[in-house]
Parts: sequence; C-alpha cells; structure tokens
Amino acid sequence: MIATAFTSSLPTGFDVQGHRGCRGLMPENTIPAFLKALDLGVTTLELDVVISKDRQVVVSHEPYFNAAYSIAPDGKPVDKKDQKNRVLYLMNYADIKQYDVGSNGNAAYPEQEKRKTYKPLLSEVIEQAEAYRKSKNLSDFSYNIEIKSEPSEYNKSQPEPAEFCALVQAVISQQLKAERVVIQSFDFATLQYWKQQADAGQYPTVRLAALVENLRSPDKNLAELGFKPAIYSPYYKLLSRDRIARLHEQGIKVIPWTVNEPDAMKRLIDWGVDGLITDYPNRVGSL
Ligand code: G3P
Ligand code: CA
Repeated sequence: MIATAFTSSLPTGFDVQGHRGCRGLMPENTIPAFLKALDLGVTTLELDVVISKDRQVVVSHEPYFNAAYSIAPDGKPVDKKDQKNRVLYLMNYADIKQYDVGSNGNAAYPEQEKRKTYKPLLSEVIEQAEAYRKSKNLSDFSYNIEIKSEPSEYNKSQPEPAEFCALVQAVISQQLKAERVVIQSFDFATLQYWKQQADAGQYPTVRLAALVENLRSPDKNLAELGFKPAIYSPYYKLLSRDRIARLHEQGIKVIPWTVNEPDAMKRLIDWGVDGLITDYPNRVGSL
C-alpha cells in the first residue's frame, strides 16, 4: 500500500476529501475527477447524487444540467434560461449520458482540464475507483456521498427521502463495506430516515454527516437533527476554535466545506478540524 501524499504534514488520520472529485482540476463529479483525486492521495471522495426517471443513482450536484458547463447532445451549450427545464428526474439515464459535461470547462475554475466526459452512475464511480485502487495498490479510501435533497423539491426533481435513501443504499450494499461510506445531507429528514433504517438492521450502518450552511449554532442544528451524527460538516466560515472543541467534546468529528485557500486550510487545521473538503487536494500537499 502506498501512503497518501499528505501524511507527513497533517495530523494522523486527517481526512482530505476531494470535493466533487477535484473540481478545481477536473470536470466536477466525473470519473476523471475521482481518479485524479485518488492520484493526489485523497482519503475520501466527496460526491453528490440525484435520481433519474428510470431510478438510477446519478452522480450530479444539480438535479438538472448546469449551464456553466453542460453541452447538449446536439452539440449546443445548455442555455442558462433553459437549464432548469432539463430535469434529470424526468430523463432516463441513457439520455443523461449523452450530455458532455467537461469539454467546455467551467469558467469559475480556470485550472480545470477541459475534457469530454459525462455524468456517471454512482455504481460506475465505485466500480472504476475500486479498480483503480487495486491497480495502483492504494490504501482504502472512503466515499462521502451527498444525498442532494430538499423538501421543496420532493416529487418535482427528486423522490421523497424513503425512496431516495432506498435507491442509494441498494448500490452501496452491493459494492462497498459500510465502514468506507459516509452519507451526508443538508436535508435532515434523509439522515433521520437512514438512521432509523440502519438501527432497524435494514440499511448499512454508515457514518452520517450533517451538512450545515445556516447561521444557527451547532447545538440548535443537532437538536433539530435529533441524534449525534458521526460528522458535523458546516460551511467553513461558520466555524471557530470553540465550536470545534465543543463538537469534539460530544464525540462528533468536524469536517468543513469547501476550503480552497491555503491560509484558511492552515487556520482550520490549527483549530483542530478532523478533515477538509476541498476542490484543490493538490494544495493540501504543499501546506
Ligand atoms: O460536502 C459538502 C459540500 O459539498 C456541500 O456543498 O453545494 O458543494 O454540495 P455543495
Ligand atoms: Ca456536496
């Protein structure tokens, strides 16, 4: 097994998570981004999932084709005014796969390589990443899978939590050991449902991560969640040394997103975070 590229400069067990693979360097949430992140030594692949009309688990941040980088099968870039009409939940995966989500790059990430690629299935990402792990003799890494869910979108661009979770757990159960998986969501109803099913022995007992971008205190958010998650994952600017310490006292790990600037990375590491979710895993190596 090779050691990760980061082990010498970071606390033992520190979790470097490649956000959407490594969005700063490769088209987000695609196979090339995940394999590149593994080349860079990440300990976790962070990714987002949505559901197609034929109930496939598709790796995508939006439940539609983002105009910032998507090209339709006719070769025309998706128009911003039209992007939300191209709803993945209303399309079969065979049609989703025809869109090119890499050739045009993404203007917000100028270092991103332009490369023709498509939105993969979760099952394919796991298959390819596991084959890569074996071929390169890499250490076991984790998958931090975000169930992209919000109550206002139930039955519009996504199923309700019970169906969404069932589809995701079916893929995971077939392909991965539970200890290699984190399920994260901003929608606490999905985390509550997963926990209930896991406690009943119906779902794998994965680590659950509460995603947070609101201004409420961690205590308020945890009270709303109703149980202690393995991980609390806030927007990084919501953290302080004290908040991290208080979460640690409760046995909860703290892994903020999306930390791209080296100064912020260093500050958060000094404050004691357990990991970072970043678009640029290459920058962690040179801290
Ligand atoms: O995993 C945390 C982070 O990915 C949440 O934000 O919008 O990039 O999915 P977003
Ligand atoms: Ca995410």
